[in-house]
Amino acid sequence: MSSTVRVGKCAGAGLAVLFFLLASGVASQAYAADAGEEELASELTVLLRSARLVISDNQAAINDPGKGDKGLAPDKVLSQARENYKKAAGKPLSNAAAGSLQARSQKAMLESIGEVMAKNQALINETGKAYKGFLPAVFARQVAESFSAKMAGEIVVKLTAPKELIRNRTNRPDEWEHSVFVQQFKRADYVKGKPYFQTVGSTFRYMIPEYYGATCLQCHGEPKGEKDISGGLKEGAKLGDLGGALSLSIPTKK
Ligand code: HEC
Repeated sequence: MSSTVRVGKCAGAGLAVLFFLLASGVASQAYAADAGEEELASELTVLLRSARLVISDNQAAINDPGKGDKGLAPDKVLSQARENYKKAAGKPLSNAAAGSLQARSQKAMLESIGEVMAKNQALINETGKAYKGFLPAVFARQVAESFSAKMAGEIVVKLTAPKELIRNRTNRPDEWEHSVFVQQFKRADYVKGKPYFQTVGSTFRYMIPEYYGATCLQCHGEPKGEKDISGGLKEGAKLGDLGGALSLSIPTKK
């Protein structure tokens, strides 16, 4: 069946997906051998977010004290993350050339996701306890730390947030990240969701902003100062407010 027929049947969303598929086919060929830094950064951060979405989608089950096996074994989370990636990027995770930085970093990200899920199985599947401290942000921080360790300085990924929202000091923004929050992401006319990148000295730096969704507000929402289920204090945020960013650095290629 020709794609024109499919477009005719689907609405605008279908057309957008089709466009993505066509456009990405061309683009992925163009940089298959050596992905540009921007593409690489986008791919890795979207992949991490796609995995984290599996955690937030299953947060109610994770917090269910009566449920044992939550069905979040590493392979399950990885396959669901690949599905989410496909939806978010409009194409499957690319087939990077063996040995390339792209291939190695994809592998490191997938392995990190699997390892974080493996090491948290006992905690996640524990019965008789509702709040377990296993949250989207905790998952993202652990995966980012594992990934950065595996890449040994070639690529660093970090979860961060504007200074006034920081709960875990490990996530504090550095000077550049702070300036991107203040001068870019918080600007009223900044295009929502658009990544910001810049080469600073010899390092390629990239940040993709994140906004609070409805499920985030039970902890980060109103009323400000009230205790959330984690014991932390709510920030008083509103739906769609800037909540943080994933930050990625690639020191210049040797
Ligand atoms: C159950 C409460 C809870 C929910 C729900 C929740 N968070 Fe958080 N969030 C926390 C806690 C606690 C931390 C500190 C995590 C740590 O120790 O690393 C945190 C940390 C963060 C951070 C890292 C910056 C920091 O403060 O250290 C970001 C960004 C963030 N959350 C965004 C979100 C978004 C976006 C959502 C929804 C998808 C969300 N959170 C859902 C409780 C929550």
